[in-house]
Amino acid sequence: MKKLARTGALLAVIMVLLIVTACSKTKDTTPAAAPAETKAPTVDATAAPAADPNKKITLGFSQVGAESGWRAANTKSVQESAKEFGIDLKFSDAQQKQENQIKAIRTYIQQKVDYIAFSPVVESGWDTVLKEAKDAGIPVLLTDRAVDVADTSLYVTFMGSDFVEEGRKAGKWVVDTFKDKKDINIVELQGTTGSSPAIDRKKGFEEAIKDSPNLKIVKTQTGEFTRAKGKEVMESFLKSMKSEGKKIDLLYAHNDDMGLGAIQAIEEAGLVPGKDIMIVTVDAVKDGMTAAADGKINYIVECSPMLGGQLMQSLKDLASGKTLAKRIVTKEGTFTPDQAKAALPTRPY
Ligand code: AHR
Repeated sequence: MKKLARTGALLAVIMVLLIVTACSKTKDTTPAAAPAETKAPTVDATAAPAADPNKKITLGFSQVGAESGWRAANTKSVQESAKEFGIDLKFSDAQQKQENQIKAIRTYIQQKVDYIAFSPVVESGWDTVLKEAKDAGIPVLLTDRAVDVADTSLYVTFMGSDFVEEGRKAGKWVVDTFKDKKDINIVELQGTTGSSPAIDRKKGFEEAIKDSPNLKIVKTQTGEFTRAKGKEVMESFLKSMKSEGKKIDLLYAHNDDMGLGAIQAIEEAGLVPGKDIMIVTVDAVKDGMTAAADGKINYIVECSPMLGGQLMQSLKDLASGKTLAKRIVTKEGTFTPDQAKAALPTRPY
């Protein structure tokens, strides 16, 4: 009887041991199977995606619009460079509307492009859509214009001009040109409201003239970077200054196109651009340079639209595992009328 009880106890111990072993085996295998599906994707926007040198890169590019000669040259640069670098380019024109750019970016996310690049029409309001791109694992590159986001890891790099410096260059020229003159009335045609070039060119210019009490910005308004709006606003400046019994000494236009529109308004008012009213602009596109060579624009600060090659090269670099600088600044110059005349024959845009 005792022997039987001992055998029973032994069997019970063996059974318990078998159950425990089986349970611990189940416990071991569960975590190994789970992670691949359950792990939340952690994407670092600054890191390059897995490299496959033979895969054709697809880029979704959202352009601001077609508001200026500069923009036309920039679009051409992006499209031609994509062909040259063998990059599959999906291109959309946002017609100067932020909601169109947001839509385009969401479409590119759905299409699972490899990279997204865009030139943001305005600085703010990008946090949500850029987070969506980051969560989808698609690196975003900014060209030409900056965004104002709390988390800068939402984009890989920002390549383009230093707009504050452009404004400073324009302001320094004005300070030097009018240093011996009193009571200089300046009118300013700003770019698109809320855009980084409009904000920064204004800031740089104001900073450069701040210690010159003889220089005063008497009127400032947006001309939306277009020739038509530049003309319309300049007409209203001329009219209101006349009714106040004041004269305009200098026009500072944030781009050539608005300056060119203003030149028409000045000529229609019977005044001589470049003489009765001096003019400084930004861009240095062919039409602006021609007006400078003709003496109608007195000084142009260069802003290069030729960003396509740099953008495509950056994509290739990212795909091969390289890290890009967070900020890539374009090198640019300035032009007096004589320098514009000399540069025109070989000007590519
Ligand atoms: O963002 C660059 C600016 O946009 C150019 O200076 C202007 O011409 C364009 O519309």
